Amino acid sequence: MALESVEEMEPRAMVPGESARSRRSVEGRHGEDLPAVSLVGVSKRFGEVTAVERVDLEIADGEFFSMLGPSGSGKTTTLRLIAGFELPTTGRILLKGRDVTNLPPFERDVNTVFQDYALFPHLNVADNIGYGLVIRKVGRPERERRVQDALRMVRLEGYERRRPAQLSGGQRQRVALARALVNRPRVLLLDEPLGALDLKLREEMQIEIKAIQAEVGITFIYVTHDQEEALTMSDRIAVFDHGRIEQVGSPADVYERPATRFVAGFVGTPNLLRGDVAAAIVGARGTFTVRPEKIRLADPAATPTGDEFMAPGHIREVVYLGPDTRYHVALDAGGELVVTQQNLATSSMEALATQGRPVRLIWQRQHCLPVADGGRSVEEEPGRSRGSWHSSHWRRSPSLPVAAGPAARRTRACPPRSAPAKASSTS
Ligand SMILES: Nc1ncnc2c1ncn2[C@@H]1O[C@H](COP(=O)(O)OP(=O)(O)O)[C@@H](O)[C@H]1O
Ligand SMILES: [Mg+2]
Repeated sequence: MALESVEEMEPRAMVPGESARSRRSVEGRHGEDLPAVSLVGVSKRFGEVTAVERVDLEIADGEFFSMLGPSGSGKTTTLRLIAGFELPTTGRILLKGRDVTNLPPFERDVNTVFQDYALFPHLNVADNIGYGLVIRKVGRPERERRVQDALRMVRLEGYERRRPAQLSGGQRQRVALARALVNRPRVLLLDEPLGALDLKLREEMQIEIKAIQAEVGITFIYVTHDQEEALTMSDRIAVFDHGRIEQVGSPADVYERPATRFVAGFVGTPNLLRGDVAAAIVGARGTFTVRPEKIRLADPAATPTGDEFMAPGHIREVVYLGPDTRYHVALDAGGELVVTQQNLATSSMEALATQGRPVRLIWQRQHCLPVADGGRSVEEEPGRSRGSWHSSHWRRSPSLPVAAGPAARRTRACPPRSAPAKASSTS
């Protein structure tokens, strides 16, 4: 097989305007090569509200794919469009290359697991799981075998006769999952399925759902607003904002190489350097991000190597978190960076005593990434605040002449090593 055709089949996000090309690429493929789900230029409007805007997406067979974004960003609507509970205003939806845009939900080979489980309270576990098979007139022996299979998959053997009220939240969630798996859909849609569980149980279920998905090999499309959940479970993540996809990539892609200011802030601590601050530290105007764990807190006399950036400042705030400590460092050049350090030897007293001290922040140039700055940032979202991150300084600075939107993502790079590190003369 020619290399180009392998690349062409690679699941990926498409930028707006690529729809025509993707339509050709879906229709030109056959059988196993076809994506499990394709969205081609899909928009959904409810009156004045545009819930989903020109989304192009291909999800591969067997993939664990997450849709991540804040509340109201269009995740549920996208899922409901795939399920057939909503019809798109524009665009097409294909399952395994078959256009299902105008087909009702029961003619699509997908099943949905809802956040509230929607179990029948008067039916026991086995009857809840087998309900869909009864409706489809699957014979009793076959039905019992498949219910047992599903119970085994979600590790609930022996719970057949219990009623939902006699189960814990996690067990009810497993029944809901088994009830969808028993139909053996090609694609399983899950809308914030762990939202009702407490943190500990949610973390256990994340690992478990991921293991179940690997075992059954069904394509999972998983909606969540929880970045850690998406990073933990997914093969790939689509980050949504305002009905649009900001970036699609592996967990490491979206975390280590956020394409936009919004993604940098939503999937992690934004840690942005912009305008004059970027010019002073990075040696270029633009918007840059550096992850808090990539930065080293160094002595005020420390000097960076040629491969590193350096920013002097002082520790404004210390947050002791047990395994790590988070330092908010006010930079001499203006603005603030957050640094996290693993507490290898430090005690909380030692960490807290560093408050107010002058420091130099040092990080490798390769960890300083340019991001597209066209859209809004997480902090600008009404009513949203992420911890103690303050960006008011940068928000007041005039907007920068950088290209907006997806086209900007690939066009800029970090400045070369020879860039002036002006700030290094101060401490
Ligand atoms: N049936 C509907 N009628 C009107 N507006 C809707 C409807 N469903 C969703 N919306 C709006 O569409 C936007 C996206 O909603 P949704 O897809 O539920 O977001 P998310 O799941 O990411 O929180 C929101 O502004 C929401 O209020
Ligand atoms: Mg939702």
